[in-house]
Amino acid sequence: MTGMTGREDRTDPGHGESTRAVHAPGVREFDQKPMGLPVYRTASFRFGSAQEYADLLAGRVAGFSYSRIDNPTAAAFADAMAYLERAEAGEAFASGMAAASAVLLGHLSAGDHVVCAAGVYGGTWALLSGVLARFGVTASFVDMTDLDAVRAAVTGRTRLLWAETIANPTLVVADLPALAGVAHAAGALLVIDSTFASPAVCRPVEHGVDVVLHSATKYLGGHSDVTGGVVVGSAELLAPVRHMRTELGGSLSPDDAFLLHRGLATLPLRMARHSASAQVLAEALAKHPAVERVHYPGLPQHPQHELATALFDAGRYGGIVTVDPVGGRAAGMAFCDALRLAQNASSLAGTHTIVSHVPSSTHRQLDDAALAQAGITPSTVRISVGLEDADDLVADCTQALDTLAG
Ligand SMILES: Cc1ncc(COP(=O)(O)O)c(C=O)c1O
Repeated sequence: MTGMTGREDRTDPGHGESTRAVHAPGVREFDQKPMGLPVYRTASFRFGSAQEYADLLAGRVAGFSYSRIDNPTAAAFADAMAYLERAEAGEAFASGMAAASAVLLGHLSAGDHVVCAAGVYGGTWALLSGVLARFGVTASFVDMTDLDAVRAAVTGRTRLLWAETIANPTLVVADLPALAGVAHAAGALLVIDSTFASPAVCRPVEHGVDVVLHSATKYLGGHSDVTGGVVVGSAELLAPVRHMRTELGGSLSPDDAFLLHRGLATLPLRMARHSASAQVLAEALAKHPAVERVHYPGLPQHPQHELATALFDAGRYGGIVTVDPVGGRAAGMAFCDALRLAQNASSLAGTHTIVSHVPSSTHRQLDDAALAQAGITPSTVRISVGLEDADDLVADCTQALDTLAG
């Protein structure tokens, strides 16, 4: 922060009642650091002089001026995430999609091309194929597990490759080092949405990834009570992303930043528990006759199980399990409705186990052909495994599947 100089104290016993009310003393000056993160619930910051204000806006001194541009509580969350992700810098956003759009708009111009994983979050798919297409940015959606297909999709205008560490909802694991190699050979950036992993499972920067983003709404907050996003990477690559936040205004509120920062302290504990329970549940689901297929990177039959084991922290494959019940769309929806403990709910990664029937919820933007290309079947159900006892979750899913089989 800038050193506050000049006319700091504006109280005067001679002032009228309204002036006294507006200029009543604020926080006391004290020379201590709080244990908890202060919430800087303020839209603006004051300066000791007009020159100090000018210097800050010009970037000659560090500090804050206006909370759309940056806020100390939001910056604390972003810095903490950069630290956990082993990145140089971080920027916080109002949502995962605010983060994603700032990355794309900050790094792309009309005529540029993106190679994107076929199985990405539906909102990212819609942003690329719908919104950005209107502004002259093109995207190819490819099976990122096929590196030849990725190389073939790259054109002279490809600026960016985009994938998810663990894809939503197919749980395909991205070969981060290999994709970084393809991107860098083409002079492009590798951007990874690591929402499903979190830094307590995998840190993509350690595997050559340039820019990492998260929907902080998910595991980083972890309690389904806050919306946010974050982007980490080098300070150089984050500069245009930060600029987009300033211009578009998708800034994280200080109250939400406080909750997100607090969530980080328990992230490794929660991820260990989510992962352990998800492993137990995935193994149980795989044995049930009413299940066509279970997708979970911790299962030996998962196509990228070995890759996941190499990239992820020991024993942690994340807290999401995707299941395809036998019987198509009706069976997928019936399974969701037959659950007693797990609830039909949007979002994921909280304390409570929730389910969503993928084709009618998160990926409703995709038609049948796009769904098939993304590896999603009409029955696919995404289970976000919460912090309940694993045995209770297995019992709940088993009784729900039994109703289908019966
Ligand atoms: C993988 C992934 N990325 C991005 C997003 C978007 O995040 P938000 O809802 O915080 O905008 C989501 C939301 O579900 C997601 O699952």
